[in-house]
Amino acid sequence: SGNKTFTMLKPDAVEKGHIGAILNQITESGFRIVAMKLTQMTEADAKEFYAIHKERPFFGELVEYMTRGPIVAAVLEKENAVEDFRTLIGATNPADAAEGTIRKKYAASIGENAVHGSDSDDNAKIEGAFHFAGREMF
Ligand code: CMP
Repeated sequence: SGNKTFTMLKPDAVEKGHIGAILNQITESGFRIVAMKLTQMTEADAKEFYAIHKERPFFGELVEYMTRGPIVAAVLEKENAVEDFRTLIGATNPADAAEGTIRKKYAASIGENAVHGSDSDDNAKIEGAFHFAGREMF
């Protein structure tokens, strides 16, 4: 048991064939998969999901990237899930990410950074509900 976080394995990670390795690292690190699917965000989905970044100079690039191919969306459960998952994925910029973290191993750049992790319990709930119906969470 524990609380929850939301993750996406982003289009670059899926394109490069890293789904299995990343999910393995996530479950080996003590996270339980509560919900999961392969899906593709539409432009409207990405603009809504990343609305908080809409004034940033990289917003257009971010929407283009996140919609260019399928992602793996998942809800994960663990004690201290949000903080522990952010530690597991590493810094937003892979150049700053700690050795062994998912972004250090699989991310190409600050923009194409392989994986998403919610930044708060409130956002984990909002982001999980964006992608999954209640009956898809176990
Ligand atoms: P994430 O932190 O999951 O959510 C916001 C995303 O915006 C971030 O991952 C990156 O994919 C992207 N992003 C953040 N900063 C930059 C940047 N400086 N240039 C391009 N993309 C960025």
